[in-house]
Amino acid sequence: MKPSPRISLNNGVLIDQLGFGLYKVPPGEAATLVNIALGEGYRHFDTAAMYGNESGVGRAIGGAVRHTNGVLETGGSGEAMHWLDREDVFITTKVWNDDQGYDATLKAFDASMVNLGLEYIDLYLIHWPCPARGLFLETYKAMETLYREGKVRAIGVCNFQPGHLEALMEYAEVVPAVNQIELHPWLQQSRLRTLHEQLRIRTEAWSPLGRGQVLEDPGIKDLAAKYHRTPAQIVIRWHIQLGNIVIPKASSAPRIRENFNVFNFELDAEDMDGLSTLERHHRTGSHPDNVN
Ligand SMILES: NC(=O)c1ccc[n+]([C@@H]2O[C@H](COP(=O)([O-])OP(=O)(O)OC[C@H]3O[C@@H](n4cnc5c(N)ncnc54)[C@H](OP(=O)(O)O)[C@@H]3O)[C@@H](O)[C@H]2O)c1
Repeated sequence: MKPSPRISLNNGVLIDQLGFGLYKVPPGEAATLVNIALGEGYRHFDTAAMYGNESGVGRAIGGAVRHTNGVLETGGSGEAMHWLDREDVFITTKVWNDDQGYDATLKAFDASMVNLGLEYIDLYLIHWPCPARGLFLETYKAMETLYREGKVRAIGVCNFQPGHLEALMEYAEVVPAVNQIELHPWLQQSRLRTLHEQLRIRTEAWSPLGRGQVLEDPGIKDLAAKYHRTPAQIVIRWHIQLGNIVIPKASSAPRIRENFNVFNFELDAEDMDGLSTLERHHRTGSHPDNVN
């Protein structure tokens, strides 16, 4: 399988554009799915303290990077894979809403590090802005401390609306590397994507498949037939060509494999334009202003 392109964050750190999302992956299944994904070529994993599965992710990563020589048998492609170096994998986790605030964030980070069993985290994110709590600036200050101490290679946010980002930019000393937002063909987030470009913040798409709902869109099904691909491959390819970082979640080896098999075809400009007309302003998750 062709590997994912690596793109640069605003501090020069490289990230695989296509990663694996772990929301709603039960703790007992996380290690197995991460091992399958590693076998298929995924090197970037997106978890969160709230998902309750950091330990499973850490166990799989620890097993894959523990030695520098040897062979890892994976359940995925059936192919043997060499052990990985820690630098070969990219791990994101997030501070949960109840842990916002300077001291609480530092404490939550330590707990995530213990769960993951890692010496550093690649990307640490604020999970939701929680405007009613009024703590996201303080929380971000703690993340800047972690960044300066070298405990995280990059910091960023999730679910920040333009107003939250503007408030943060007034205050932040480190420009967030990413804003991870709900984004798929039915919620294209063009305003935020433009703002991110201006601020040099990468757009990372959560629920990139619209939790499976957008795969039923007739326009996407037509393109799947045209390109002899699956609807999920069309949607993931659209994200890649838009320049998004994209982290689909899947629960079975065939889907995990299918979702990574998107680097040997290209959507033409006309079809990219056609996909941009599928916007419905449809959210599968909560509106960020309403989460606290
Ligand atoms: N920062 C945030 O606030 C936030 C919020 C939500 C999500 N996220 C992150 O984004 C990741 C992805 O979002 P998500 O999990 O909500 O949704 P998603 O990736 O858009 O969709 C996952 C759903 O699509 C199905 N699916 C996956 N591949 C498929 C395929 N090839 N064909 C048909 N169906 C397929 C999955 O089914 P099966 O599982 O049954 O295979 C699952 O029901 C999360 O796992 C998490 O890491 C972040």
